[in-house]
Amino acid sequence: MQQPFFPCNNLSAKDGVLQFAGQDTASLAKQYGTPLYLLDEARIRHNCRVYLNAFRAHFPAGSLPHYASKANACKALYRLMTEEGMGIDVVSPGEIYTAREAGFDLSKAFFHGNNKTDADIAFAMDCGVGCFVADNEEELCAIDREANRRGIRQRVILRLTPGIDTHTYAAVNTGKVDSKFGAAIETGQAKALTALALQKRGIDLCGFHCHIGSQVFEEDVFERAAVIMIDFMAQMKADFDFETKLLNLGGGYGVRYVESDGQIDIPQKIATLAGVINDRCQHHGIPVPQIAMEPGRSIVADAGLTLYTVGTVKRIPGYKTYVSIDGGMGDNPRFALYRSSYTCLVANKLGEPADLEASLVGRCCESGDIIQEHVMFPSSVTRGDLVAVCTTGAYNYAMASNYNRLGRPATVLLHPDGTSDVIVKRETMEDLVRLDV
Ligand code: LLP
Repeated sequence: MQQPFFPCNNLSAKDGVLQFAGQDTASLAKQYGTPLYLLDEARIRHNCRVYLNAFRAHFPAGSLPHYASKANACKALYRLMTEEGMGIDVVSPGEIYTAREAGFDLSKAFFHGNNKTDADIAFAMDCGVGCFVADNEEELCAIDREANRRGIRQRVILRLTPGIDTHTYAAVNTGKVDSKFGAAIETGQAKALTALALQKRGIDLCGFHCHIGSQVFEEDVFERAAVIMIDFMAQMKADFDFETKLLNLGGGYGVRYVESDGQIDIPQKIATLAGVINDRCQHHGIPVPQIAMEPGRSIVADAGLTLYTVGTVKRIPGYKTYVSIDGGMGDNPRFALYRSSYTCLVANKLGEPADLEASLVGRCCESGDIIQEHVMFPSSVTRGDLVAVCTTGAYNYAMASNYNRLGRPATVLLHPDGTSDVIVKRETMEDLVRLDV
């Protein structure tokens, strides 16, 4: 009997039942109910340490990886980031508030977004967010106004678009000139934004940022982006005598969802990137700045798994089979949005041959409520079976909704000692009407 494909080594089989982070998925489903998000604490810590160690080995002192918390934000995750010594990237007052409530030191946060409101800016300053990533002139002026009102100088880096087109899906391809994010180097807007920042009394310009895209596997795009950014830094040194102290290269390393996805060797990628950065800075005769990166997916995706219970199995002779589960696009909208691939398994029947092709669909009143098409399941799949969708730690809970007034699932953190804790409670009926008047 052929072993099913497991996208990450925190998955294994025991007596035909899927084990995740060393714990039995069938027992977890029984204990906590489904649908259920699971997170593997050891894997999250491991993924952080991969970045932290590579940063220590290759980048100047003061360089730090920042967890892009849009991938999955809750108090427990911010606490984990504190324990691991990571910085964070936040994109909204809600993320800032959650991090603050978790006791995260917000001086280690970058505040992102292409349209920060005046209220967002004031709130972020109240909370002591360390560095703002200014996206455009209008925003830079708003940050300056608020800083002046408070009599402070706010640390700021500028978001630039280096003009790199990654071959990822359009929704996450952000490095191009034609993007809602950042000031393009190519059009001269990046230089104009820098000039403006240097004139503003309330702005302490520290450096530059770019983020070229997400789920990126291409060989050299991060290196190419770094070269373009460093060339720009050298130009700013020549034009304005501005010395860049901090270069933030964003997130984006791809993770393995299915067998055909590649696997990125992050320490090796960072070593190569550091070599390119050092050479290019030396070429221009400028000092190597502190480096930041903002991994989201590669910190939490493979630490996550979602469990569902099978309900209706509908066979349409001559067409196909639909396997319906007790969750769907409300807890994982990524197939509906991007046609994202996932490895899906019948977690209590790993010992059986997977000989039935099916569509794995949710329970929402909408045909687009699909988790995955062309999944191979054992033909005995039936009501009450347990389905595991792997690699769901990033952009699942974070993007979940209450569509059809379905409550969002609980998240359970699996500890390395074999114990587990609810870190986000399951939404109840009362939660669903809490804001209704
Ligand atoms: N930094 C910035 C400025 C970003 O915009 C992002 C992601 C990251 C870092 C983290 O990138 P990562 O390492 O996770 O690739 N909802 C989409 C992904 C959207 C990514 C948005 N920005 C998805 O489900 O695939």
